Amino acid sequence: EKSGYDYFMLKEIAEQPHAVAETLLGRLNEQGDLLLDEVRLTDQDLRDVDKVFIVACGTAYHAGMVAKYAIEHWTRIPCEVELASEFRYRDPVLDRSTLVVAISQSGETMDTLMALRHAKEQKARVLAICNTNGSTIPRESDAVLYTHAGPEIAVASTKAFLTQLVACYLVGLHLAQVRGIKYADEVGAVVAQLQEMPQKVEQVLAMMEPIRKLARELADAKSVLFIGRHVSYPVALEGALKLKELAYMHAEGFAAGELKHGPIALIDEGTPVVCVVPSPRGRGVLHDKVVSNIQEVRARGARTIVIAEDGDTAVEPYADHLFHVPVTPTLLAPLVTTVPLQVLACEIASARGHDVDQPRNLAKSVTVE
Ligand code: F6R
Repeated sequence: EKSGYDYFMLKEIAEQPHAVAETLLGRLNEQGDLLLDEVRLTDQDLRDVDKVFIVACGTAYHAGMVAKYAIEHWTRIPCEVELASEFRYRDPVLDRSTLVVAISQSGETMDTLMALRHAKEQKARVLAICNTNGSTIPRESDAVLYTHAGPEIAVASTKAFLTQLVACYLVGLHLAQVRGIKYADEVGAVVAQLQEMPQKVEQVLAMMEPIRKLARELADAKSVLFIGRHVSYPVALEGALKLKELAYMHAEGFAAGELKHGPIALIDEGTPVVCVVPSPRGRGVLHDKVVSNIQEVRARGARTIVIAEDGDTAVEPYADHLFHVPVTPTLLAPLVTTVPLQVLACEIASARGHDVDQPRNLAKSVTVE
């Protein structure tokens, strides 16, 4: 079953290029229009949307955080992301022109399901992004986009996360297309960039040996911090979550710019800080800001573990360990930058002697609130 891998998690990490490719397959019709799987909404309903809420838990919530950047950029519709367990207790403002996007690998997560039901009571339209055909969340939604990750066995989500990102990008592009706004013209170009991602994920996977070596060195660390900005911020959160759940270590993700507002006090001689650096092309300001954040933590003794784009030489002087990922458009970068963090967490947990596939206290599908 594990096809020669020690853990399902390693097998599922390795399956990511295929999972991403499958999720992209057959999404365009002959006219180049993006298609959702099940749509009980009209295009007019989607044109009327004036607000998007994304609700999800855990890793799926991190996918939603990335989606917010893409959806707002491409559609110019305000988009908020909220933990499903918080959403309905807050009395959120929803009506017929709100689109609620519920993201769930299992389709059975009770917190997400209850958020969805609350949204429907308020007459909002609900679109599900889900990996499990016919599960409760897609059944109760007005529209569905399935991720084609295949069954995910390991408790920690990996390939489902990457496919959730792909599905979120597709939803953003579909909304832009249906609404005919400025970015609708770019849809074809972004779809072409997405088509290149399976190969880029494959390239990252081929370069994981140094990450495994580093993982063995970090197995005794007291705490590991993760920093990122823009779409790399949720990637930092996801890296920290993986390490907590698998290695039972203290790990925290921060928005890089927030460090100086408090968390930088945590940094001590030798504290490992994983820094996810945005591309130096395009949004150069973002890149330069993160590089100065890396300098700041290093000046306080941090051991910096830097994930940066191929050819990014500006980070070299400040990286104790440097790992490159292929050149990728900024919004799509989480598809490659997340992978080394998954491998890092898996290998640290394994070095500490934990059962990577069945971490203590956790279940694959959380069907209680
Ligand atoms: C983390 C993890 C969980 C799930 C969360 C939501 O590795 O797997 O955080 O992402 O419980 O589960 P789904 O996506 O099934 O709703």
